[in-house]
Formats: sequence, structure tokens, C-alpha cells
Amino acid sequence: MGIIKKILITGGAGFIGSHVVRRFVKRYPQYQIFNLDKLTYAGNLENLKDIEHEPNYTFIKGDIVDQEFIRKLFDKYNFSGVIHLAAESHVDRSITNPMEFVHTNVIGTGNLLTASRELMDRGGEFDCFYHISTDEVYGSLGDTGLFTEKTPYDPRSPYSASKASSDHLVRAFSHTYKLPVVVSNCSNNYGPNQFPEKLIPLVINNILNMKQIPVYGKGENIRDWLYVEDHAAAIDLVYHSGRKGETYNIGGNNEWKNIDLITKLCEIMDRKLNRKPETSGQLITFVKDRAGHDLRYAIDSSKISGELGWEPALNFETGLAKTVEWYLNNNDWLQNVISGDYENYYDKQYLER
Ligand code: NAD
Ligand code: TYD
Repeated sequence: MGIIKKILITGGAGFIGSHVVRRFVKRYPQYQIFNLDKLTYAGNLENLKDIEHEPNYTFIKGDIVDQEFIRKLFDKYNFSGVIHLAAESHVDRSITNPMEFVHTNVIGTGNLLTASRELMDRGGEFDCFYHISTDEVYGSLGDTGLFTEKTPYDPRSPYSASKASSDHLVRAFSHTYKLPVVVSNCSNNYGPNQFPEKLIPLVINNILNMKQIPVYGKGENIRDWLYVEDHAAAIDLVYHSGRKGETYNIGGNNEWKNIDLITKLCEIMDRKLNRKPETSGQLITFVKDRAGHDLRYAIDSSKISGELGWEPALNFETGLAKTVEWYLNNNDWLQNVISGDYENYYDKQYLER
């Protein structure tokens, strides 16, 4: 089949990016998919082993912060679209090292926007810059209410502030230069291939190793969890059918208090590992709260469901069971990612709490 589109996916070796790359490579043989990734600690080509030899897939190692490199890459390939996921993505790391987030998330996005604009101005057939963002740009909710696309921005961590900045830049390029853009803001993802510094895989890994489970504060913070393949399906829909210049909120309609979610994971793991009930629960340890910890995130997804017909396909029971199963069956993957720097990170992050 002839190639009719060349799509650049940034951050494709990361958690969500790898699911998006796989979906596009498999479903769209008529697209050539270029995966641009710097392979930071969070990027892992193991995530894409099953598709690495597909003829419509190309991996490029590179840094979105390197303006000259990005410019040359766009000159060489004349992409027809960009799906931008590359980012520093972990709130705790942003508290320790905020400038890394400003560089990657703000400057990196600015470089991609500039190169896309230059491509469009040269008369290339550039039809979409799709920016993947987070619900955290909206700030923190109290006990009630949901984030809609009209909720004013109120980012409160260096991570969310850097993502908010990048969202503003994307919309500014749409307004000022008529770059065809679309933005989506999604709630917390979970599923296979997530790096075990984020809550769900960290808890699974600690239970496996009978290590304490660190719960920040009282465990009362609430997140709205979405299975990663449901997010990838939403990204596919928005890329192809989302209206340019628009924003779509994506969420799981699935709010959980951290302590309740952790308790549930403990029960699932005890069953899967044939341990006595309550074994994992005893590992729960309340530790010093995260600085500036947002209380609650929850998304109103009615725009994307009404306009594009998207709904999450998996309920949380099934999604969590699949996720736990994946980590248990992919111990090599887990061991690889927790070798190297992970222990240093973990000790710095948790020993003083
Ligand atoms: P991740 O940290 O797992 O992956 C990020 C990827 O970007 C990695 O492969 C990394 O190597 C790459 N990268 C980092 N800096 C780079 C640079 N300078 N140049 C090129 N590549 C670079 O993140 P994720 O959880 O998959 O998130 C992907 C995107 O989705 C991010 O933009 C994030 O803000 C957004 N998002 C994530 C969630 C979530 O729950 N994980 C929710 C909503 C939105
Ligand atoms: P995280 O997975 O880091 O995602 P985010 O901060 O972007 O929502 O954390 C999810 C929730 O779990 C958040 O309220 C912080 C909390 N948390 C803990 O209680 N302990 C931990 O060790 C981690 C990593 C997170």
C-alpha cells in the first residue's frame, strides 16, 4: 500500500506514546509513523519490540529541545502531521527539578510548533499539530464539580505550569499563524508499560517485593483513572475527526481516593500471588505529603463523547486486572527499568519522607 501521510509522534517510547505508536502502525499501514524520542529514563524501546520491524515504522533518537535538529528533521521528512507527547511527565520530579520541565515541555513544544509553521508556510501539506496535555492544567477541584474545556487554567505544580505554558503556545500558534492545531487534556492514565515511579506501577512493584507502600498525606487525594488504550483510542479519534482549534477533555469518569485504590490493588495482588488476605495491606505506610499536592482531579468528557462518540471501553475492574497481570507476566521489563538509576531516585524520593 502506498504511503499517503507521514506522521511524527514525539515521545513514542514512553508510556502513553508507545500505545499510540502501536495503534497507528497497526491500524494505518498507509501512514509512515516516525517515533521521535530522546530515550530519557522514561523512554524505553522495549515498549515497542513487537512492531519495531514493521515497514511503516521508523524510530529516530533525538531531543525536541534541539532547535536545529528539529528544523532539519522537518526539512528532511515534510511531515503531514504531528502528535506531540514527548514531555517530562512526573509531578514529583518537577518539584525537585523544575527547569528540566521548562526546557522540555515549553521550549521543546515551541521548537516543534515553529518547525511545523515553517513547513506549512513552505506550502507543505501540513494538516494537524495535535498536542497531548493533562487535566492538571486546570488546578485542583474541591469535593464537587468537574473540569470542562472552559474551566480557567490554574496550574499549581511546575509540571502542570509547564504543560499549561505549552498549551497556551499551541493555541497562540493557531490564532496567530493559523496553524491547524488540536489539544486534548486527559486525566490520569494507567496500564501496561507505565514507569514504576507513578502510583499504580509503583504500588504493584512494591507489593511484589514486599516493600512499604508510601501513601502521601492521608491518602485522601482523588484522581480520575483511565486505561491507557482508551486514551490511545481517543487520540486516534481526535487526530482524525477533532475540529481544528478545539480542545477536548478526556477522562475515565472513574474517581478514586488514593487510599481506596491502593487497598483495592493490595487485595488484587494478594489473590494473584496466592498470599494470605491482608498481607499487602500491611505494607501501607503514610508518609510526608507532596508539596502543593492537588486534592482532586475529575473530568467532564461530554464534549468528546457527544461530538466524536468516544467512551472508555474498559471498566476499572477489568483494566486493573489486566494491568496487574501485565506486570506479573513482564517481570523482565520491570527488572530492566528498575535497574540503573531507579534505586537512586527511589532512595532520594522516599527515604527522607
Ligand atoms: P512518559 O514520561 O512515560 O514518556 C515521555 C516520553 O517523552 C519518554 O519516552 C521520553 O524519553 C520522551 N522525552 C522526554 N523528553 C524528551 C525530549 N526532550 N525530546 C524527545 N523525547 C523526550 O510520559 P507519559 O505518561 O507517556 O505521558 C505522555 C504525554 O501525555 C505527556 O505529554 C504527558 O504530559 C501527557 N499526559 C500524561 C498523563 C498520564 O497519566 N501519564 C495524563 C495526561 C496527559
Ligand atoms: P502520580 O501517579 O504521581 O500522578 P499525578 O500526581 O500526576 O496525579 O500520583 C497519583 C496520586 O498518588 C497523587 O495524588 C499522588 C499519590 N502518590 C502517593 O500517595 N504515593 C506515591 O508514592 C506516588 C508516586 C503518588
